[in-house]
Amino acid sequence: MNTLRIRRPDDWHLHLRDGAVLSGVIGDTTRHFARAIIMPNLVPPVVTTADARSYRERIMAAVPAGDRFEPLMTLYLTEHTDPDDVEEGKTSGLITAVKLYPAGATTNSHGGVRDLDKAMPVLERMAKIGLPLCVHGEVTTPEVDIFDREAVFIDEKLDVIRRRLPELKITMEHVTTKDGIDYILGADRNLAGSITTHHLIINRNAILVGGIRPHYYCLPVAKREHHRQALRKAATSGDKRFFLGTDSAPHVDPLKECACGCAGIYTSINTMSCLAHVFEEEGALERLEAFTSLNGPAWYGLPANEETIVLEKRAEPITFPEKIDTDAGAITVFDPMFPLTWAVR
Ligand code: DOR
Ligand code: ZN
Repeated sequence: MNTLRIRRPDDWHLHLRDGAVLSGVIGDTTRHFARAIIMPNLVPPVVTTADARSYRERIMAAVPAGDRFEPLMTLYLTEHTDPDDVEEGKTSGLITAVKLYPAGATTNSHGGVRDLDKAMPVLERMAKIGLPLCVHGEVTTPEVDIFDREAVFIDEKLDVIRRRLPELKITMEHVTTKDGIDYILGADRNLAGSITTHHLIINRNAILVGGIRPHYYCLPVAKREHHRQALRKAATSGDKRFFLGTDSAPHVDPLKECACGCAGIYTSINTMSCLAHVFEEEGALERLEAFTSLNGPAWYGLPANEETIVLEKRAEPITFPEKIDTDAGAITVFDPMFPLTWAVR
């Protein structure tokens, strides 16, 4: 198979930031993707429906002329989030999901949730009105090893929320472990998982072998090879519970190449080429569309895109810039460490 036409994809987990970074990165998403779930971890975070409305306007103002793009806005859950405001956001059509960051789990998450009990009134309202919860599934307890934080979160937090609120729809975002995949497979309803491009390609060696490589560092951190294999199997299976959320997370190079570098990998620009390569390797090109363009909308109750894109396999490798330039500085592009031959026509 040398060409593949699929419905235009969506990105169900994306960091666009604000200001100069937003302007510098957004075209890499809108070139290929019709919609994206926009992460709310700005400084300060997008906490209220009013915050989300103005952030959406800034995003729309940055969309390159001629591109059509729909940002699907989220709210950053805090212990003080007002259930009425959340409901208004959903009713007005502005808010697609609410995002749970356990406090301290990742970039700009210090305002996140420490005590889940304090967020219960909001979660109860969301279950009632059918608004999904997107979860960064890692505990932050210092005693828990960073490579175990997802598995412990499932047992100690996620399972507890699901038992208390079986009607709440939960997206376990950027699943990185076989434990996460198995947990989702074992749930009969109201649980799905997004998977990033980079976690299908790298394991933890990419970060640590031969020197410390900050551009492969993200959270949840990449795990052992058998976890990557489980992610690949799930993503390429066609199972409706798994879909693409790139978690493309731009940081300018000085913020990554330093003594305490930020977590985040920038993949918006080459994600579709990387995914076609992965799906071809797995003998599953015919299921790429389910992962990038069908399962996500079905989960979020939205129609699949009518437009299509065509992927073409080239005889020679195609190239992407090593870095993109923004007015805030250079941002290094994810290097999959193999030649890419699939291009979006
Ligand atoms: O690697 C990550 N980067 N993981 C996250 O959860 C946050 C993100 C960011 O905002 O940079
Ligand atoms: Zn993220």
